[in-house]
Amino acid sequence: MNDPTTIRRLYGRRQGHKLRAGQAALVEEWLPRLSVPEAGPLDARALFGDDRPLEVEIGFGSGEHLAAQAEARPDTGFIGCEPFLNGVVGALGHIRERGLDNVRLHMGDALSVLERLPDASLTRVYLLHPDPWPKARHAKRRMVNSGPLDLIAAKLRSGGEFRLGTDDPTYCRWSMMVMNGRSDFEWLAKTPRDFLDRSADWPETRYERKARWQGHEVWYFRYARL
Ligand SMILES: C[S@@+](CC[C@H](N)C(=O)[O-])C[C@H]1O[C@@H](n2cnc3c(N)ncnc32)[C@H](O)[C@@H]1O
Repeated sequence: MNDPTTIRRLYGRRQGHKLRAGQAALVEEWLPRLSVPEAGPLDARALFGDDRPLEVEIGFGSGEHLAAQAEARPDTGFIGCEPFLNGVVGALGHIRERGLDNVRLHMGDALSVLERLPDASLTRVYLLHPDPWPKARHAKRRMVNSGPLDLIAAKLRSGGEFRLGTDDPTYCRWSMMVMNGRSDFEWLAKTPRDFLDRSADWPETRYERKARWQGHEVWYFRYARL
């Protein structure tokens, strides 16, 4: 039987405002170099030439978190996935400015990259401010659903971490409910402060900044893969 959460379809915008000439040149020159190859094996050696730890960010937006993590840990390889072209331009700009050589990008669906990675190959997966799909009838589109989570669980190594941030109260409750029902993840929070405060090694994202500015609460969930 088909699980509705495994229906593979990308929702949301692929492009916003038209790219300026400099941005278009950045995409043309840098994206092919940094893109995850379309076919063939996908592991740390294929992407970075060695067996370094690998982390994936799903829906990196403009890439500020991805770039900050990559700059902080140059010996880790990062794969950022984002279908929105204008976001990809932002990430390319950060990568160029900071001279990062440990980031690869996929302009498209993160799940199609996760599927190609070897099982138990990731040390972290980030899902920061995923599209909330607040209407109940759209709940199956949420990334926090059994289909995507089964995939994330399969690709994380034991002791690896799944980080989820949201400022959406419905998504927060939904995620707690879904994640509490799983036996393959352990919520790492010991006190409320652990999910109300962003830890020092969790750089702020653009959506998060916007949410705070609008007076929203933000929740930071960290789960260990058992
Ligand atoms: C609300 S934005 C948050 C962006 C960023 N994480 C932040 O916190 O600023 C959600 C992002 O997820 C991306 N997204 C949606 N579905 C996706 C998918 N299947 N794979 C990768 N990214 C996806 C969207 O394009 C969008 O940029």
